[in-house]
Amino acid sequence: MSEGTELADALIREHQAIDIGIETYLDGLDAGGDEEPLRTAMHALRRHIYLEEVFLFPPLRAGGMMMPILVMEREHGELWRAMDALEKTLQSPSDPEALHDACRSLLSLLESHNSKEEPIVYPRADADLSDVQRDQLALFLESGTFPEGWVCAKGAA
Ligand SMILES: [Fe+2]
Ligand SMILES: [Fe+2]
Repeated sequence: MSEGTELADALIREHQAIDIGIETYLDGLDAGGDEEPLRTAMHALRRHIYLEEVFLFPPLRAGGMMMPILVMEREHGELWRAMDALEKTLQSPSDPEALHDACRSLLSLLESHNSKEEPIVYPRADADLSDVQRDQLALFLESGTFPEGWVCAKGAA
């Protein structure tokens, strides 16, 4: 197995962990709802989007993958704004039904995004990233943090 495949697998595991965090929150919502799994999942998703837009997408775009990356960035923007809205909803005491709907809609955006990104974009990480670029991505995956206040390419409201 090449190192690139391991990277793709690690990125897919992040998708799964983020989904599980949101689902865990949803499962507990009727019982009062511990916000921690949702907040952790949203932070992980923002960090995941950062690593894709900073470490993964530029070399893929340079390798000629223009349209799929544009679509991925647009969808990151939608995810980003959905998280901004959800965070606002969490701040004000609100109706569990609204939180439930917002989480369901975030999960559905994620499903639509990940179901394209995993088969179309991630396999190209093998072909288009240099060893140095792969090492940088792997290092970030392990321990990287994204800058406070960073917003994804198409995340502005
Ligand atoms: Fe992703
Ligand atoms: Fe993505």
